[in-house]
Amino acid sequence: MPLVAPPFPRIVRIVSSVRELRGACDQARATGARVGFVPTMGALHAGHLALAGEARRRAGVVVTSIFVNPTQFGPGEDFSRYPRDLDADVRKLAAAGVDLVFAPGPEEMYPPGDDTRVQVGALSRTLEGAHRPGHFDGVATVVAKLFAAVGACVALFGRKDYQQLLVVRRMASDLLAPVEIVGHPIVREPDGLAMSSRNAYLSADERARALAIVEGLDAAARRFGAGERDARMLEGVARAPIEAAATSVDYVEVRDADTLSPIARVEARAVLVVACRVGATRLIDNVVLGEDAPPLTLPR
Ligand code: PAF
Repeated sequence: MPLVAPPFPRIVRIVSSVRELRGACDQARATGARVGFVPTMGALHAGHLALAGEARRRAGVVVTSIFVNPTQFGPGEDFSRYPRDLDADVRKLAAAGVDLVFAPGPEEMYPPGDDTRVQVGALSRTLEGAHRPGHFDGVATVVAKLFAAVGACVALFGRKDYQQLLVVRRMASDLLAPVEIVGHPIVREPDGLAMSSRNAYLSADERARALAIVEGLDAAARRFGAGERDARMLEGVARAPIEAAATSVDYVEVRDADTLSPIARVEARAVLVVACRVGATRLIDNVVLGEDAPPLTLPR
């Protein structure tokens, strides 16, 4: 069903306490509505709004959280300069048909004395986990808290953060959270660059160089489509343009799409994941071989 923008932006209720959030979600469920939940860190772009649109299609009441979660940033990462503009975000969410925004302060999510962290095992130690130690403990912890506050719901996560989606799925299943997790396809700019709040950090030159990521993924996906199944060959095809343009490359790897274990050959399906820096900005992207279309749609 196509996404139909509401004729007038809804009145969005903004709450900052877990008590109000829980009350509103309980009340929605008591009337028989399903709750759709989109957790974010704000700095919203069309990718987030697509998640809200999908939540709107799947649920009667749509809740978005906006919280720049300190525990998922490592020392020296961009926590303090991460873009924050609550008013602009709320306007976009109103137009996307969101009903409730949860925008807590740090003490609401991490009350004084807070001393518990959620740690997902093997899935969170590889790839991003190896390059950003502790990152997924922070993500799993805050998402577990948010799920505890929202309660039974369908929760939407973008597939650009592919590993995050798998980690959150594992955590929700292991902790028996009454949450259906839905992964949403990557939303790309017309030239193919995956939408990300961190794209705002790129200079014009870096923005142009960042397209090498999608070029690499696209070339590998087309080679896969032509019959190549050797994981190292596919990585090589993707790596060539990325290495030529990026400031540094953290990984370009073909992994099992469900476990993220290293593989030698792609049988039916595998994920090709990329992380690199362009200038000072760290970017990630991926394509699921055997599932996603090659990501470049416009001729370049
Ligand atoms: O993907 C994000 O924006 C964040 O990692 C999330 C899921 C909102 C947790 O802070």
